[in-house]
Formats: sequence, C-alpha cells, structure tokens
Amino acid sequence: MANTRRAACRALGALAMCAGFGALTLATPGAHAEDKQITLGFAQVGAESAWRTANTELVKSAAADAKIKLKFSDAQQKQENQIKAIRSYIAQKVDVIAFSPVVESGWEPVLREARAAKIPVILTDRNIDVKDTSLYVTMIGSDFLEEGRRGGKWLADHYKDAQGPINIAELQGTVGSAPANDRHAGLIEVIKSDPKFKIIASQSGDFTLAGGKQVMEAFIKSYGNKINVVYAHNDDMALGAIQAMEEAGMHPGKDVVVVSFDATKGGFQAMAAGSKMNVDVECSPLLGPQLMSAVKDVMAGKPLPKRILTEETVFPMSVAAQTLPTRKY
Ligand code: AHR
Repeated sequence: MANTRRAACRALGALAMCAGFGALTLATPGAHAEDKQITLGFAQVGAESAWRTANTELVKSAAADAKIKLKFSDAQQKQENQIKAIRSYIAQKVDVIAFSPVVESGWEPVLREARAAKIPVILTDRNIDVKDTSLYVTMIGSDFLEEGRRGGKWLADHYKDAQGPINIAELQGTVGSAPANDRHAGLIEVIKSDPKFKIIASQSGDFTLAGGKQVMEAFIKSYGNKINVVYAHNDDMALGAIQAMEEAGMHPGKDVVVVSFDATKGGFQAMAAGSKMNVDVECSPLLGPQLMSAVKDVMAGKPLPKRILTEETVFPMSVAAQTLPTRKY
C-alpha cells in the first residue's frame, strides 16, 4: 500500500499539484503501483435525492468493475460526519480518498491531514473553496454555474415577449453547497439585466422532496398566485413543490412555470406525463467510472487535469416523452 501511495505522490509532485505529496523523492515512477489492490475511501454526501442514489450506485459498481476496494460512508448531509469519515480513512491508511463535499468551505484542516499522511484526495461532484488547490489532485463533476445560466437562459427565452413582472420563487439546495451557490449565481447572472424578473422568495429545501414541498407550502401561503416561476435547484425539490402546488389547486407546468435541475427519470416523468415541469437542466451523477479511472491514474503516477468536466445539456418538456426511455438515472 505504501508503494502505491508513493507512486501517486510522485505523480502529484511531477505536476506540481500537490506540494506535500510531491516532497517524496522515489526514483521509479509507477513502480509496484499495478500489482496491489487499491483501497479507496469514499465519503458520500448522503442519500438526499434520486441523483445521489444513482451516484452512489455507480460509485459502488464502478469500484467493483475496476477491482478497487471501496470503503464507503454516508455523511447524512453533515460536514462534520464527512470530516470524521475522511479522518477515519486517513487512520486506516487507504491509498486514495475521494469525496463529494457537502458544502464548499471549511476543508483545509482535514485536507492538510490527508496531505501529511501522503494520501491523495480527489473531489467528485461538488467543488470546494480553498486557497491552496494543491490540497486535492483533481475535481471531477459538473459546472453548476453553467447549469444555473442554462436555467436562466431558458427562462429569458421563454419570457422574451412577456411584459412582466415575472415573479420567481427559488427553492435552493443545501445552504453553502456548490450546486446551491452556483445555480443561484448562474440565474442571477442571466436575469439581472432584465428588471421584469424578480426573485420574490428564496429558501433552502436541502435538496429533498420533503424539504421542497414544505418550503413551497410556505411560499404559497405568503405569495399564492403571484408566483409565476418555481426555480428548484433539483428534481426532488421540484417534485415536492409540484405536490404542494397541486394540493393548493394550482397547475404546475401551466400557470406556474417549473424549472429544475438533474434530469432524473422523476423529472422526466413530471414533464412527459402531465406536463408539470417545463424544463430540466441536466446534471449527471454517472461519475463512477471516471472516478475509478482517475484513482488508477493517480496510483500509477499518471498526470491528471485539475478539472474534469461532465458533459451536459438542457431538456425542455417538448422532448421529455421521447427521451425518457433512454434516461439512465
Ligand atoms: O451535487 C449535485 C446535487 O446534489 C444534485 O443536483 C442534487 O440532486 C444532489 O442532491
């Protein structure tokens, strides 16, 4: 295990991506890296959404396919649990640590501990906000800011001939998380130049269906028919909001436009059957195979780009019925 870790650290040193790991001075890059089973410690966010369930399943199956020994933990959406899990992986001397950070800030201390133990760290799905980006090797996942812009552009186009005001109720994801911060920022970037768009309410539903429903019920009580658009940061919250609107006698997808993110089967079903959601901006959870390949590359001393982006698109309601059978999650 020590040899495989050293190979990874030499790769990091070669790329100047990881000062602490790169301090190692062994001579033969990649030596002994291939003949040992790699152990990966993966600290997952939780099980908050259909997206997350699909992501977890694929991480597990891709590890099995790649013959990587996986240690898996579920942080139940709490940063302190994730930090505990990472510390436990350090204590267990795993070869590589990967995690999908619940929130963006507060990671330096534990990442420095991983570096001191010479264990490379890969970020997957969500990014972090650190000054010293050499604390991790690479980040594999979506561009959430671009996703937010895509949602905003769809709205701008949909309402291009409308007078306004267009009142938006925003269901935010987990407070402080990269997708919540960036999907909000992407929307603002697009609509800020057009005063007819107004965000009249914005609150976190924590990326869950129950959270989305509860927050939407409160929005309906406060704003009722004034709401023109629900901008939900994921499908689970959008589906919860749809339930709340229907229970209040409203018609989601018709008199209230619903913009959502992920493009899960649930989102597609809401668009295809009953036209209850208007557009779903794709965010792919199918990151397992890319992650395992990055883990192997790190262990083999191969260079990796600092950012590995996922390819994604936008699905309006009009394509939902024909596309639904091809959706993998
Ligand atoms: O980080 C990805 C986001 O987290 C997905 O949009 C959401 O469904 C999940 O919980």
